[in-house]
Amino acid sequence: MYEQLKCVEDFAKLASQKIPPENLAFYNGGAVGHETVMENCEAYKKWKFRPRLLRDVSEVDTSTTVLGSEISFPICIAPTALHCLATADAEISTAQAAEAVRTGYVQSAGSTKTYEEISRKIPGCLRWCHLQFFKHREMVENLVNRAEKCGFTGFVVTIDQSVLGKRIYRTPDGKHADTTHRKPINMAKSWKAIGKQNSLTMDDCFDGRAQWDSLDWLSSITKLPVVVKGILTEEMALEAIKHNVYGIIVSNHGGRQIDGTFSTIDSLPEVVKAVNGRCDVYLDGGIRKGTDVAKAIALGAKAVFVGRPILWGLACDGKTGAQRVLEILRDEFTLTMQQLGVTSIKELQSTPNLVVHESFVLRKR
Ligand code: FNR
Repeated sequence: MYEQLKCVEDFAKLASQKIPPENLAFYNGGAVGHETVMENCEAYKKWKFRPRLLRDVSEVDTSTTVLGSEISFPICIAPTALHCLATADAEISTAQAAEAVRTGYVQSAGSTKTYEEISRKIPGCLRWCHLQFFKHREMVENLVNRAEKCGFTGFVVTIDQSVLGKRIYRTPDGKHADTTHRKPINMAKSWKAIGKQNSLTMDDCFDGRAQWDSLDWLSSITKLPVVVKGILTEEMALEAIKHNVYGIIVSNHGGRQIDGTFSTIDSLPEVVKAVNGRCDVYLDGGIRKGTDVAKAIALGAKAVFVGRPILWGLACDGKTGAQRVLEILRDEFTLTMQQLGVTSIKELQSTPNLVVHESFVLRKR
């Protein structure tokens, strides 16, 4: 099968034959008009390489660190919900794939395997725990305590979901997918642990009152590093720094929250400039090729996170499929580094004008 699957796009196509259309609609869908979903991918085309040639690129080191831990290449797994819609082993397969290629995995609060099971079965997987400021903060506290006991080494808190985006998960033949019966097991477990008798509702999951000082509260209940996900502008980046975050993920939730933001790759330079080295900057959104990864790293991201490509890999062939997706991205990225004439992540980030906006050529005239 893998003879036929040469790039991430091949996995996206095959996924449509492997899992029910409504499940794929949930994965691929976004906020109403899908402008941002598309823009995230399209925008990479506006950024161009200016390679250096005739340099010794026979040996390339793609390793780097994320949240202080070493990974073998700068591509990690973004938090995405409900991996059970792709494969029976769900997030177990995802963690196994991450471990196999020595990268990191952010386990979503909307995941369908418990922290405890994953830590028991794949203790060697580098994992970070995704959180949101849920309405009942005792629930967040319980998730934090459980995650710390289960060997997570950091938290990724999503701030662009104080309210749920309007999404339409439509199948190709016009049916609307309904996934509301799928329960995020970790949230449900913590909900019970804090003594709630009724079942968890969507309304309990979002807190329209959350503000920047919620980050201080989160940092006060854990010693692990906190990364904030959902930053898109200079203004947001400066706020996040004021609250002493370890890192920032430039993200628009894969186009599933507000429709019509700039793409993440277009937002990255503004955020990197504002941060000015005061914390790590990462990026997610629209990464489908190794060249996309190289562009993001050259523009200042320390690493990137991928969402849907992992889901397509899981849908095609569980752990092996997700692993293969990561390997394809890793190999394409390594090749791109060689073709650019750089042999380390540091060199990719520090070589001036290796990646420029297409308007650069006009300025040269
Ligand atoms: C997501 N994303 C997401 N983000 C988050 O902070 N918490 C979550 O539970 C989820 N769940 C989720 C489910 C699905 C099906 C998708 C596609 C996305 C957003 C995710 O972390 C990431 O920001 C985007 O997926 C990145 O874009 P790409 O790589 O999918 O283009």
